[in-house]
Amino acid sequence: MARKKILVTGGAGFIGGNFVQFIVNKYPNYDIYNLDLLTYAGDLTKHKQIEEKKNYTFIKADISDRKFIIELFKKEEFDYVIHFAAESHVDRSIKDPGIFIETNVTGTQVLLDASKEVGVTKFVHVSTDEVYGELDFDPSTFFTEETPIQPNSPYSASKASSDLLVRAYHETYGLPVNITRCSNNYGPYHFPEKLIPLTISRVLNDQKVPVYGDGKNIRDWLHVIDHCAAIDLVMHKGENGEVYNVGGHNERTNLEVVQTIIKELDKSDDLIEFVKDRLGHDKRYAIDPTKLEELGWEPIYTFDTGIAQTIRWYLDNKEWWEQIINGDYRDYFKAQYTTV
Ligand code: NAD
Ligand code: TYD
Repeated sequence: MARKKILVTGGAGFIGGNFVQFIVNKYPNYDIYNLDLLTYAGDLTKHKQIEEKKNYTFIKADISDRKFIIELFKKEEFDYVIHFAAESHVDRSIKDPGIFIETNVTGTQVLLDASKEVGVTKFVHVSTDEVYGELDFDPSTFFTEETPIQPNSPYSASKASSDLLVRAYHETYGLPVNITRCSNNYGPYHFPEKLIPLTISRVLNDQKVPVYGDGKNIRDWLHVIDHCAAIDLVMHKGENGEVYNVGGHNERTNLEVVQTIIKELDKSDDLIEFVKDRLGHDKRYAIDPTKLEELGWEPIYTFDTGIAQTIRWYLDNKEWWEQIINGDYRDYFKAQYTTV
């Protein structure tokens, strides 16, 4: 296989970080450039195993820095751009939407312009099922690629805006793009403000776990490694201009997720504390992945095998998440959860 240059944005974050490790190890003949601003969500300690590898380079930069990004693309002439970098946390977007527009919309447009300028082989835009809005609790309904875009939070509205720009650059300029829309990811290196790692870390410390509202909201959980494999497939085989939904039919209520973790860790449900609901809290997400399966994708994890692997990882890697929960994150937690 010929040598290729791959730019991964947001490769110090949760999913981008897993993807960088996946692709650096899988394709020694690809040169991987990880571009990341290292916001609160980014950290490079996770890449200790690969940082000395010849095919890995880190670049600290802001995707919204037009001058820098255009010059970088002209110098490196990337073949593929896999775009993960984003502000990604719904609760933070409810408190402060501005940075979500700056990073998720303007930053994406800068990358599209740079990709157009040098003529990349493929631009893969990693988006979310949250752009479709919410489903009701009827278990026979799913998000397909044809579901109308109806985002409800400032986060999902910013992601939907970037999706529309990606589409427009394909339609107007013929840029070879794909958009992937995945359900909630979980797995190693998940930042401990999201439901699953928050629950694991708090249950291990015998602390209360905040469950929003009545805990009946449903999410469709996707192990991050299954997501990485999906992106690898789309990057190489996706038809230009197409959207692919990624999800493995692992629907659970939030309460079920929290109870599963408590049970696996042999603790008591008394740790559960119901707290004030999130504003505009989407009821249910559920993905129909048929189109991606037809391209050849098959997940390796069920929710049961994936959650067991994830809990084991958090037990074996305490130093990684303890440095986060003992740092600036403490202030965020205090401001977000007044009662817990
Ligand atoms: P994350 O918040 O863990 O990581 C985001 C990364 O982007 C961080 O390393 C951060 O430093 C970097 N970043 C932020 N602003 C930047 C900027 N201006 N320039 C350069 N880098 C910047 O996010 P994640 O959970 O890994 O999500 C990755 C992508 O997947 C996002 O686009 C998100 O919308 C999408 N997604 C995530 C989920 C999920 O469950 N986590 C689900 C669906 C879609
Ligand atoms: P989250 O992990 O923030 O992902 P998203 O908002 O992108 O779906 O939340 C997952 C679900 O868990 C969501 O329905 C909100 C709920 N939740 C809680 O009940 N308590 C919490 O402390 C958090 C962070 C989330």
